[in-house]
Amino acid sequence: EDDRATTLPRPKDTTEPHANSSGYDLRDVSTKAVLMSARDRFRDTQWSFGEGVSITNPTNPSEIVGSVTFVAKAGVDAAITRAKPWSAEASTRASILISAADGLEATAPELLALLAREAGKTAEDAIAELREAADFLRYYASFASDDAAPLGIVAAIAPWNFPLAIFIGEVAGPLAAGNAVIAKPAESTPLIAMRVTQILHDAGVPETALQTLPGEGVVVGAALTSDPRIDGIVFTGSTATAQAIHRSAAQHLDPAAPLVAETGGINAMIVDSTALPEQAVRDVLASSFQSAGQRCSALRVLFVQSDIYDPFVRLLKDAMAELRMGNPWDLSTDVGPVIDERARKGLFDYIAEHDPLFQLDIPDVGLFVPPTLIEVDGYADVSREVFGPVLHVTRFEAKDIPSIIERINARDYSLTFGLHTRIDGRVEETKRALRVGNIYINRNQIGAVVGVQPFGGSALSGTGPKAGGPDYVARFTRQNVRRDDY
Ligand code: SER
Repeated sequence: EDDRATTLPRPKDTTEPHANSSGYDLRDVSTKAVLMSARDRFRDTQWSFGEGVSITNPTNPSEIVGSVTFVAKAGVDAAITRAKPWSAEASTRASILISAADGLEATAPELLALLAREAGKTAEDAIAELREAADFLRYYASFASDDAAPLGIVAAIAPWNFPLAIFIGEVAGPLAAGNAVIAKPAESTPLIAMRVTQILHDAGVPETALQTLPGEGVVVGAALTSDPRIDGIVFTGSTATAQAIHRSAAQHLDPAAPLVAETGGINAMIVDSTALPEQAVRDVLASSFQSAGQRCSALRVLFVQSDIYDPFVRLLKDAMAELRMGNPWDLSTDVGPVIDERARKGLFDYIAEHDPLFQLDIPDVGLFVPPTLIEVDGYADVSREVFGPVLHVTRFEAKDIPSIIERINARDYSLTFGLHTRIDGRVEETKRALRVGNIYINRNQIGAVVGVQPFGGSALSGTGPKAGGPDYVARFTRQNVRRDDY
């Protein structure tokens, strides 16, 4: 066992305006050692969880990372029949989830390798994601309680953009509450889900309390969300899919079965003329292009005050020109590939319909989409969430701020918002008027930290409760009489 694997540091205080979004410093010696160990040990590894479907590396789509067997409808039925809520005492559940977090950290090199090769994660993103997954386990474990009864069987449908952290978060919340969980990882990232399921089982989560079913949404997802034996659903992904799940659940599930959904956003940032330009540009780059823009929290529409618009946009373009795209193994890579060919084509089609102000060159091989800047007339010109490294920019006058906020509120996407200003009154006024889940002041608007910045929006952006917040685990319990209700 490589004991360097256990030295992954905790992030620095990400509430500091100048901390980077993950809080990790890749120059840190122990961080670098874990990454080098990951690269050396897992460069050619193949992960096999059965046969049938080959999973490829988005950085080099001709490279197969592993294989998996997709579950058919009958397999979903069998899993539901086999599922048993986790009846261990709360203290036992909590200590098992905490040792699962230790297990993730002890497996850091392999998991970082999977994140890089299956999901195209850069080193910085992969480390932050592993850290977040361990944090979810430890944080939700602290809410395990014997006072509340679990719902029963919870279906957890996870996304490809955080195939480790959000997968673990969706599983750990209901498990902490004592449910049985049947998890369906995204079609493009099942390997890492299968591997961490093993780690959870090894830590002591019973195999009847956690079953992971890789497969297609139209098969596994549809079967889970229409089976009346399912008592709750937790989902992260597109707003349209959440709406489809909601309809299916309303038709087939017990009316009390909750849907916890975290979906998209058309997130904005305002940079006014009092902002520090270099800092704002750096935070715009992280918010828009880190993870190749494939975060629901990512910045999509940047408002820059007219007085500083031209020099600010020039600075932004110059900074974009410095971004390095390439292999996630390379520590100097800022922007990795997008997840698959379909995503790549959709983004290129979108870019082709516009006339970008700036676009970076892309590597010859791999599913890369260039960080792209598109000028628009206003918020309404961005008609949908564009899930990739595409940033829209527009100018505003100070007097327009109330109407910008009104337009954002009217849109009902309400996930993240960024504000760069040195006017205190503007900060207070914006926080009061804007209906979004997470507001970030004078920093980037991605990378919410578990337990510190509960994450999630409302309306078209999700149902709540916020992930990594104090209400999450309770949503997976029955609201029966509790001892302290007397
Ligand atoms: N939680 C992530 C972030 O804050 C998005 O899913 O960026």
